[in-house]
Amino acid sequence: MPQMDSRIHELKAFCGGRKLAYHIETYGCQMNVRDSEELSGMLETLGCVRAASLEKAGLILFNTCCVRDHAEARVRGNVGALRERKEENPDLIIGVCGCMMQQEGAAEKFIRRYPFVDFLFGTHNLSDFPSILAEAVLFKKSVVSIEKERSREHAAPLRRAPGLHAFVTIMHGCDNFCSYCIVPYVRGREKSRPMSEILAEIKALAENGTAALTLLGQNVNSYKSEGYGKDAFAALLNEIGKISGIKRVGFMTSHPKDVPDSLLEAIASGAHMNKHIHLPVQSGSNTILAAMNRGYTREGYLALVERIRAFIPGVELTTDVIVGFPGETERDFLDTLDLVERAGFASAYTFQYSPRKGTKAAEMPDQLSNDIKKERLLRLNALQEKITEENSASYIGRVESVLVESIENERLSGKTTSQKSVSFKGEGVLGDIIPIKITAARRAALVGEPAERGA
Ligand code: SAH
Ligand code: SF4
Ligand code: F3S
Repeated sequence: MPQMDSRIHELKAFCGGRKLAYHIETYGCQMNVRDSEELSGMLETLGCVRAASLEKAGLILFNTCCVRDHAEARVRGNVGALRERKEENPDLIIGVCGCMMQQEGAAEKFIRRYPFVDFLFGTHNLSDFPSILAEAVLFKKSVVSIEKERSREHAAPLRRAPGLHAFVTIMHGCDNFCSYCIVPYVRGREKSRPMSEILAEIKALAENGTAALTLLGQNVNSYKSEGYGKDAFAALLNEIGKISGIKRVGFMTSHPKDVPDSLLEAIASGAHMNKHIHLPVQSGSNTILAAMNRGYTREGYLALVERIRAFIPGVELTTDVIVGFPGETERDFLDTLDLVERAGFASAYTFQYSPRKGTKAAEMPDQLSNDIKKERLLRLNALQEKITEENSASYIGRVESVLVESIENERLSGKTTSQKSVSFKGEGVLGDIIPIKITAARRAALVGEPAERGA
């Protein structure tokens, strides 16, 4: 399209000419973090530069999340706060994208409430960003561009956050339709990226010094690749192990309903694999798990925890829990506390149930009051805090291999293979793996010292 090319050319002249400073505010999960890297890449190709802060930016983009009302409220507050700045400086460019915009009718409502926003787009047309920006900037048009599902293109140049670690998307979307969750509606159907494409991306990263990876997907263990059946994800992990320079690999998120032995074997035997699995349980009550459409029971989950611990010595498990799902009784909640106690999670993300318009659970009877949800959340958090403390204390006296991820003065910090944070005084460079003897367990991190050679 020659017309489009000339527009992008003009946009480049506009952005590059004034070295337009951009800032992206990212909400929500790692999928959005990864998408923001892609958007940054596009902006830098256009000649924009990263602003030191939101206040110093001439272009502000909000990449939004709608998984809970709290996330949406923060976006509304922060966009609303720009109203006056935009009135004072009409040249300020403001855009909003991401999951929140992809909800039925949400973008139209948003632009009515915040008419000073220049452009909006959804999760399915991320790659249209340059042409949307061109229209908004060059023609001063207000642009609302939300597409229904369309397959994602991965060709866009990336601007990765510098460092040792990289996020690599292995699949998009989700087909699980847990009854409380908006993600399948705003991210579309599940689709795996070809294995060859993922491996090529990781090889290039490794050649540029990346040592640690997080593989991303809403449900990574249902990753599909022709000819591998249910062992595709395990096969991918094994292939990644053959790439030199990649020392630590983790993934988010895996669903408890399908964890084949092949996956546990790949984690147990892969020297490059983190000995950590994030395995959201959501509830410990069978009634609630069924109403959530999670596809497993508490007994099934606890048996899986045992199987994982038997396969992978030293493994740590972390989880997500929702309290106050519609109809959750005190008894159901006690079942959750009991499961949390039995599973022994290293840590947990805990949430009050937040009704999401368009999901099944939002229409269910017996929605609980905020007071009950809050009270249950406090009790759950108190229990998990105690378990986390015990878990951390169990590391004291042990020698752990720590991958150095940050250095400040003489203080180094990084993670164990089980993904516990460790801070210590010593010598080393980013990317080193150093044996550290754990001497104390603080709230934020374990503390240690370099272990004697041979210790
Ligand atoms: N795909 C991932 C998680 C996606 S959302 C998985 O299935 O595990 C991250 C977490 O947000 C979920 O695990 C869940 O605990 C929480 N969550 C999702 N929808 C929610 C809602 N409506 N209210 C409260 N918490 C929710
Ligand atoms: Fe949401 Fe369930 Fe899909 Fe996770 S698996 S993204 S909780 S629908
Ligand atoms: Fe939020 Fe979208 Fe992630 S709704 S949790 S940013 S997939």
